[in-house]
Amino acid sequence: MSEFARELRAALAARPRSIAPKWFYDAAGSRLFDRICELPEYYPTRVELALLERHASAIAGCIGAGAEIVEFGAGSARKLRALLGALEAPLRYLPIDISGEHLLQAAAALRADHPALEVQPVVGDYVAGVELPQPRGRRVGFFPGSSIGNFDPVQAQALLLRMAALTRGAGLLIGVDRVKDPALLHAAYNDAAGVTAAFNLNLWARANAEAGADFDLDAWYHSAFYNAPLRRIEMHLVSRCAQVVTVAGQRFEFAEGESVHTENSYKYADAAFGELARAAGFEPRASWTDERRLFTLHWLASPACAGSLT
Ligand code: AVJ
Repeated sequence: MSEFARELRAALAARPRSIAPKWFYDAAGSRLFDRICELPEYYPTRVELALLERHASAIAGCIGAGAEIVEFGAGSARKLRALLGALEAPLRYLPIDISGEHLLQAAAALRADHPALEVQPVVGDYVAGVELPQPRGRRVGFFPGSSIGNFDPVQAQALLLRMAALTRGAGLLIGVDRVKDPALLHAAYNDAAGVTAAFNLNLWARANAEAGADFDLDAWYHSAFYNAPLRRIEMHLVSRCAQVVTVAGQRFEFAEGESVHTENSYKYADAAFGELARAAGFEPRASWTDERRLFTLHWLASPACAGSLT
């Protein structure tokens, strides 16, 4: 049985039912995510790209000359492109992504456009830990898109702690979606064209294709809402009726209205994120926010040695 089938069965047997959002990203899911980034309601990608472009030289100054850039969850590698022109003699680009085919295509396209840049894609799950080649120089982390929001505060701190160790003596450039008017958040995760719903429901399509499941996609709907006390968007797949679903030979019953929690997307005030970064051993050094205060890029310096980790 595949790891996905095993995790899905465990998720459906547990209460509450929830599964890690990394399983969204099969080839179809990665394409749907790229379409989300183009939606008028989904502001994070556009706002972050504009911040990267507008502040590219200041950011490049923080990154420094001759850096090796490791990107966590690189996807189509669009964000790195916004910085490339400003970076001084980057040594190498190591994009990590769980969606193999998508990553290799992105790496090939980047090489074609920037033949001088050494691009070494790494297919894998940066949370589980991937094997990276030996560093050749100052290793800088790049974690855009507010993907840190997928992790609860305890997981996020653990992940940042490992990123601090990986980028020791250099730093991490990280994009973080800010706390804001819930109406804007609601629109961003409930787009009029239904792309986010399709992205969420694609999880069941993937389960049918890869995990021996028999989900009836018409019997489920997408639900996304802002949980204000926890400062997070939650996405769920909700059963429209009483039904039984089989996954790799195991039967699961769902009552009408029962749901599976498929994603969290935490939002942070700048100061709260700074505290989280400090708790992971980083020193927040600079940040850039748009006029509407929707999104922030943080430059976090990594301590020079393990001894200075708190
Ligand atoms: C890639 C995790 C940052 O949380 O906004 C977009 C994923 N989910 N629309 C996010 C997502 C629904 C996205 N991250």
